[in-house]
Amino acid sequence: MKKSVGIVGLGMYLPEKVMTNLDLSKMVDTSDEWITTRTGIKERRIADPSQSTSDLAAEAAKEAIKDAKMDASEIELLIICTISPDRLMPATACIVQNKIGAKNAACFDLSAACAGFIFGITCAKSMIQSGLYKNALVIGADVLSKFVDWKDRSTCVLFGDGAGAVVLKESKACEIVSTYLGNDGLVWDLLQIPAGGSSLPASHETVDQGLHYIKMQGNELFKVAVTRMIEAAKKVLADNNMTSGDVDLLIPHQANQRIIDATTKRLNIPDEKVFINLTKYGNMSSAASVVALVEAVKEKKVKTGDNIVMVAFGGGLAWGSALIKW
Ligand code: ACO
Repeated sequence: MKKSVGIVGLGMYLPEKVMTNLDLSKMVDTSDEWITTRTGIKERRIADPSQSTSDLAAEAAKEAIKDAKMDASEIELLIICTISPDRLMPATACIVQNKIGAKNAACFDLSAACAGFIFGITCAKSMIQSGLYKNALVIGADVLSKFVDWKDRSTCVLFGDGAGAVVLKESKACEIVSTYLGNDGLVWDLLQIPAGGSSLPASHETVDQGLHYIKMQGNELFKVAVTRMIEAAKKVLADNNMTSGDVDLLIPHQANQRIIDATTKRLNIPDEKVFINLTKYGNMSSAASVVALVEAVKEKKVKTGDNIVMVAFGGGLAWGSALIKW
């Protein structure tokens, strides 16, 4: 019999600066009306220039460790899910380890874009179940404001910065019952940062051409996002002999209200069972799902015994779902 692994601590951190749609309309040719009707986003948080991903991650992590009534030195595994690392090297997880004092943890970064948190808890759960570690800190953090071309209206209106974290341990309460992961590398180029890696190292030319910014084929992604999110939610439910009628709260990836509406309509899950916070934060990529989970708990949207389904989709392409029995 496999060990039950549950969430024993939750934390989040959002930068103070709020950027509204009106602010954006003064920077690029856009409007509150366009952004609201096409995405549902009203405002997003933007990190201070002095803040990097590890700073946001460390704040969320400290709150989660405190919530778990633990000391940072007790953390055995630290995974940070991010696509906006502080540097290409070393792993941002090591920088977070230093910032929070998790001196006994094995640390690594995990890159699965907006699906990062689902991938992160899947790894951590398995490593706890295998007996390798007793606990894990899983952080989802991104500062995409530093990778967005603020002159490109098709992307800059979508993203926001933030971080969320959970502590996992053997526990029957708030149990991660099962997860499902999927990828399609055939269309990896639909969402990418072309330059700065080994295929196109940073040069004057790459900077002049803006190739170190996020490039996205939004229309194409939209269709795949809906299909894969529906598939992933159905899969995790079917794996547990459940249907959408058993879902008490759906926490979908917070990218676009229209993607969420199309997904929940076809899953037949009513709006009152769907948690939304993208209005306030935009798409925080790896941080989005975990911040939504933390907020749903803080806002008492979940009670003991509830079936929470998380479902996410993003660059890679990568998608995944999780069934959590709260
Ligand atoms: N303001 C005003 N007009 C705009 C803006 C803007 N901010 N952005 C684009 N437009 C214009 C376009 O130029 C286009 O004009 P045209 O018809 O004259 O050519 C028109 O609006 C329609 O553009 P579309 O791209 O077709 O708009 P769409 O309805 O598809 O919405 C969006 C775009 C919001 C990006 C949508 O496609 C989407 O949400 N896609 C999925 C994003 C996603 O889920 N990404 C994966 C996760 S992210 C991650 O993993 C990090």
